Amino acid sequence: MGSLGFADKPHAVCIPYPAQGHINPMLKLAKILHHRGFHITFVNTEFNHKRLLKARGPDALNGLPSFRFETIPDGLPPTDVDATQDIPSLCESTRKTCLPHFKQLLHKLNDSSSANVPPVSCIVSDGVMSFTLDAAEELGVPEVLFWTTSACGFLGYVHYRQLMEKGYTPLKDESYLTNGYLDTVIDWIPAMEGIRLRDLPTFIRTTDPNFIMLDFVFVETERALKASAIILNTFDDLEHEMLGALSPMLPPIYSVGPLHLALNHHVHDNDLKQLGSNLWKEEPECIQWLDSKEPNSVVYVNFGSIAVMTADQLTEFAWGLANSNQTFLWVIRPDLVGGESAVVPAEFVAETKDRGLMATWCPQEQVLSHPSVGGFLTHSGWNSTIESISGGVPMICWPFFAEQQTNCRYSCTKWGIGMEINSDVKRDEVEGLVRELMEGEKGKEMKKKALEWKRKAEEATGSSKGSSYKNLDQMINQVLLSPR
Ligand code: UDX
Repeated sequence: MGSLGFADKPHAVCIPYPAQGHINPMLKLAKILHHRGFHITFVNTEFNHKRLLKARGPDALNGLPSFRFETIPDGLPPTDVDATQDIPSLCESTRKTCLPHFKQLLHKLNDSSSANVPPVSCIVSDGVMSFTLDAAEELGVPEVLFWTTSACGFLGYVHYRQLMEKGYTPLKDESYLTNGYLDTVIDWIPAMEGIRLRDLPTFIRTTDPNFIMLDFVFVETERALKASAIILNTFDDLEHEMLGALSPMLPPIYSVGPLHLALNHHVHDNDLKQLGSNLWKEEPECIQWLDSKEPNSVVYVNFGSIAVMTADQLTEFAWGLANSNQTFLWVIRPDLVGGESAVVPAEFVAETKDRGLMATWCPQEQVLSHPSVGGFLTHSGWNSTIESISGGVPMICWPFFAEQQTNCRYSCTKWGIGMEINSDVKRDEVEGLVRELMEGEKGKEMKKKALEWKRKAEEATGSSKGSSYKNLDQMINQVLLSPR
């Protein structure tokens, strides 16, 4: 494609849902598409653009002549708070307010075709930003929806309507949250044998038929039918059955992950590498500290970008880690504890200062691929899970919400790389599971399994024979480069 004039160059507009776990994989996909000859426009919200500039400095978003950043408003009241936005409000606001701004941006891009910007030829949108389909239709270009979840999580979401029709949700009253009802086994979802209500994405745990997240998931999954294709950041070997169950229900699905491995294998352009997506400032000292540790000796603890816990839960995790006697890297986001700043007990800090490092945000992919990291205590977000799998790192799972519960279930029961911790977390259980993960027989078995998955993930992305490589190739040629 290098010989094409700029006006013939394909131009993909990539628009993530405006949260960390969505921006990261979309940026990776955009970089890969750029490497494959696409002009890229990457669309952030104004709020996140400001945060990215603050966290990474002005150069991080300067872009390249053929990789540009643009912004649209998210529709929420302006704020300078440096924290995760309220997810239900953000869902409601993006779907109600973003479309006209997005259309306006597309018109601007097409009007500026004379200024070295080729006409927009396709849209790659987050699966939960499906309002973008209307813009693609108006423009007459193909649109691919990128669902940043696992295939198993997505499979759970697409069954929400049936769960509602069959009367499983909304719950009759609050007692159903605690009376054992969530242990009900659902035996009619293909590729989900033995799944319990509690393992399905959590928005069904409501008594309110008008709960915004329930409605949001209905609408977004149904609109997925209108896409030209769907992309998932997973790989065939890992989620073969779940992908097989999804495919008769939806447009063509392409599993192209793990995207960060694909990126590391094939894209070596330094200008692209400096374009980052972290909303918090990374602390690179974590890597130097890990360099000083023995192989497989460190337990890494991080609960992602959205999960919040109580001050008591934070204290239980702290004493569990301290009592396990293991070396640890614990990343505590400033907004991790709901309503207050996240502070661990001073005695805990004093007791563990020789074997623990605490940080507020780290370069997680580097951490999970570091030889010193032997285990991961995680909230089971899909990015964290696929990054852990790619690093060959077994997990203790403390899922917080959304499809994290489903990722946890599959990590523990199907992939053999996880142990679940009770949501009502207690220090003794943390201590026991951390010891088991780092020193026990079960820990060793999980490590072996995790290394097998790592090898398969490498195979899927590493060469043109890999399944994810081939799927991406097909998606580009059959969908993004073909007229609508
Ligand atoms: C989650 C999950 O993506 C998703 O499954 C759910 O639908 C919505 O919320 P999040 O909490 O952001 O999102 O978790 P995760 O998917 O694990 O993504 C976090 C991302 O931030 C990862 O790519 C991780 O590498 C990165 N990260 C996290 C860092 O780079 N440094 C950190 O310190 C923490």
